[in-house]
Amino acid sequence: MPKKIRLGIVGGGGDSLIGVLHRVASFINDNYVITSAVFAPEFEKSIEFAEEIDIPTDRIYKDFDTMIAEEMKLPEDQRMQVCSVLTPNFLHFPMAKKLLENGFHVICEKPMTTNYDEATTLRDTWKKAGTVFAVTHTYTGYPMVRQMREMIKAGELGPIHKVDASYYQGWINPIIHDAEKRANTWRLDPAKAGISSCMGDIGVHAFNMIEFTTGLSIQSVLCDFNYLYDDNAMDVDGTVLIRMAKHVKGVIRASQVATGEENGLTIKIYGSKGALKWEQENPNFLYYMQEDKPLQVLKPGHAYNSELSLDGTKLPPGHPEGIFDAMANIYLGVARAIRGEEYNDGEFPTMRDGVRGLNFIEASVFSHQRGNVWIPLDPA
Ligand SMILES: NC(=O)c1ccc[n+]([C@@H]2O[C@H](COP(=O)([O-])OP(=O)(O)OC[C@H]3O[C@@H](n4cnc5c(N)ncnc54)[C@H](O)[C@@H]3O)[C@@H](O)[C@H]2O)c1
Repeated sequence: MPKKIRLGIVGGGGDSLIGVLHRVASFINDNYVITSAVFAPEFEKSIEFAEEIDIPTDRIYKDFDTMIAEEMKLPEDQRMQVCSVLTPNFLHFPMAKKLLENGFHVICEKPMTTNYDEATTLRDTWKKAGTVFAVTHTYTGYPMVRQMREMIKAGELGPIHKVDASYYQGWINPIIHDAEKRANTWRLDPAKAGISSCMGDIGVHAFNMIEFTTGLSIQSVLCDFNYLYDDNAMDVDGTVLIRMAKHVKGVIRASQVATGEENGLTIKIYGSKGALKWEQENPNFLYYMQEDKPLQVLKPGHAYNSELSLDGTKLPPGHPEGIFDAMANIYLGVARAIRGEEYNDGEFPTMRDGVRGLNFIEASVFSHQRGNVWIPLDPA
């Protein structure tokens, strides 16, 4: 077993949504040890949390800049190697940039930055740094999503002509209908969340899933947002028509006000020979539909799955694995890349996905603002 990779974490404190997912994912395949962290802007809170989860406090820092400065003083064989950026959106860009400039590998939450300009600047920085950069589009780590990608790549669906991804949540309902609450949520504050709420937070996952599974690039978008209230600056619901080629079209639907919906991400890909359908809330079932044939339900861990899919399963068929395992698969791919081992490019989303995501978010915002017109994305 090679030595564990020294992992730093910024954000993701005890009060956060996503911190536990990253911490558990990093432990699952025994590749990482958390050596360094700033879990919260308040030093005492960071220390308290480190003590609570039993991480040594000698490398818990008062803020991110101190973390970089102090880690750079350490000998290379002790220094943090990779850092997970789990802070609110507006901090991803400055933090990821500084990490890259100091030679660290980066695992960054989505959306990678708050606008497209920052995303392309970060790509330039990354090219100079030459380190590993992953964006945690978590759902790409599920074995049956990987299987979709491999079946489509192998031509099992024939040429793709229709794609449909929807991501419906209802969590913002109790906030958006209360004037005080909607004014005090970072996800509805453009200074903290970036140019979009709904499309930036979840629509971008749906976008990424379409490009990840089909291997095709979205060329242009036409978007209509709903803000619900005149004093709300951010979209909480949106529908985007997408063109991938002259005869390949589809739709992305995203909502944070779909009352009663939990984490309803669904992706459907239709080709001339067959179709695939996958739902995040039932991730171990992949529906394979073909003309004049009975519906097939593919499940993880069986030998009929692709190598990439099987690589994402740890237990024999029938032992359900979920979101922690999907994120762990991304961490596993990153560990291989950091160690210079061979890996499949489907193992983790990269800088390319991050940049494409911001191009999509910004194009959707422009489309809505300019009166629901088609906006081209840059060539992939
Ligand atoms: N991949 C996914 O499926 C997924 C799911 C949820 C959230 N996210 C992303 O993860 C990020 C965080 O989301 P969340 O829901 O956990 O947010 P959150 O508001 O629940 O938690 C943010 C955490 O960051 C900490 N923090 C804030 N400022 C900091 C600073 N300057 N230094 C250090 N720590 C700081 C806070 O103390 C808190 O612990 C967002 O960018 C979000 O889009 C991704």
